[in-house]
Amino acid sequence: NKGKYEHYMQKEIHEQPESLTTTMRGRLIRGGSHKAKTVLLGGLKDHLKTIRRSRRIVFIGCGTSYNAALAARPILEELSGVPVTMEVASDLLDRQGPIYREDTAVFVSQSGETADTLLALEYALENGALCVGITNTVSSAIARHTHCGVHINAGAEIGVASTKAYTSQIVVMAMLALAIGGDTISNEAKREATIDGLIDLPNKVREVLHLDQEMKDLAKLLIAEQSLLVFGRGYNYATALEGALKVKEVALMHSEGILAGEMKHGPLALVDENLPIVVIATRDACFSKQQSVIQQLHARKGRLIVMCSKGDAAAVCPGESCRVIEVPQVEDCLQPVVNIIPLQLLAYHLTVLRGFNVDQPRNLAKSVTTQ
Ligand code: UD1
Ligand code: F6R
Repeated sequence: NKGKYEHYMQKEIHEQPESLTTTMRGRLIRGGSHKAKTVLLGGLKDHLKTIRRSRRIVFIGCGTSYNAALAARPILEELSGVPVTMEVASDLLDRQGPIYREDTAVFVSQSGETADTLLALEYALENGALCVGITNTVSSAIARHTHCGVHINAGAEIGVASTKAYTSQIVVMAMLALAIGGDTISNEAKREATIDGLIDLPNKVREVLHLDQEMKDLAKLLIAEQSLLVFGRGYNYATALEGALKVKEVALMHSEGILAGEMKHGPLALVDENLPIVVIATRDACFSKQQSVIQQLHARKGRLIVMCSKGDAAAVCPGESCRVIEVPQVEDCLQPVVNIIPLQLLAYHLTVLRGFNVDQPRNLAKSVTTQ
């Protein structure tokens, strides 16, 4: 039931304040003896010690689920101190890459039925790793075959392009980082700021959804383009990859997410006055580096669309030709949840304006159950 919406993708983008609230329900505990706030993930509580002692954590997934894990990697590394590596499921299988008994392998999948991810799970089980699932589908194959896990509880996702599952996956993995990180003194400030940030996140998401009309206007400008680049780094490298994936898969426009630190190692050659480029430059530890990327793109007459924190338009825009997307600022590790939403809206409006099928993109299936 699409209710007041024309498409499931549109409905699922707009219901993210509610789906995120459901994802966190019962899992952020306030109060207790000294009023500390903690995270309770029922499915993991008996396994946290093993995870903390593992030699590394390996995230495994495909497509949007892989991107969600990439968005959560920095906070997991910061709070747990355990090395975190990333594997695209098919590539792990192609290489028969090393997985050890001392590893924790985390399988991220909205449907819980993706063939590559499921085969990678079988492979990791054979190699003796602790296998953790993060899925949206209760009693899916991945939920059943993992040793333990967390349901993201985002509600059924019907649009083929994953939107609300992506933001709920990031929130679950941020909670996973908090749970693994535990109550160490060195983590205290970051932990409290992240928990406060999570509690307020649905409000910030509601706020950023007000950009709907602005993103429709931007889509009108981009409707006839061949290509769109998206530059991000740090916490928002994943936002660049995921924003580009959305544009590519539903709007059927070539789009590429680029790690901004790699700009001079090749992509800069593409820059001219015609190719539109989104640069994600919200406030975090990478902000000044992104300001310099913007300067360099501007010096080469790049057609810039800069996503920045509210009030930063003047600080990020090198000239009048630059367009800005101002988003509310949140805790750095949660910023990817806010930043993807304007790009989801942009992909949605581009698709409708270009006359393509939003909910059933050409050649794609919701759940890829064959290799
Ligand atoms: C569980 C209940 C929830 C109830 C809550 C009350 C289910 C599905 N969830 O939620 O309805 O409100 O207790 O305390 O009955 N699991 C995996 N692999 C996965 C995902 C999950 O093995 O990929 C396992 C977990 O380890 C856990 C079980 O499935 O044993 C349920 O996981 P989850 O729903 O996340 O647990 P709770 O949030 O505690
Ligand atoms: C993109 C998309 C796909 C899926 C991928 C993995 O919008 O939906 O990239 O993310 O096929 O699917 P799950 O998460 O079900 O394993």
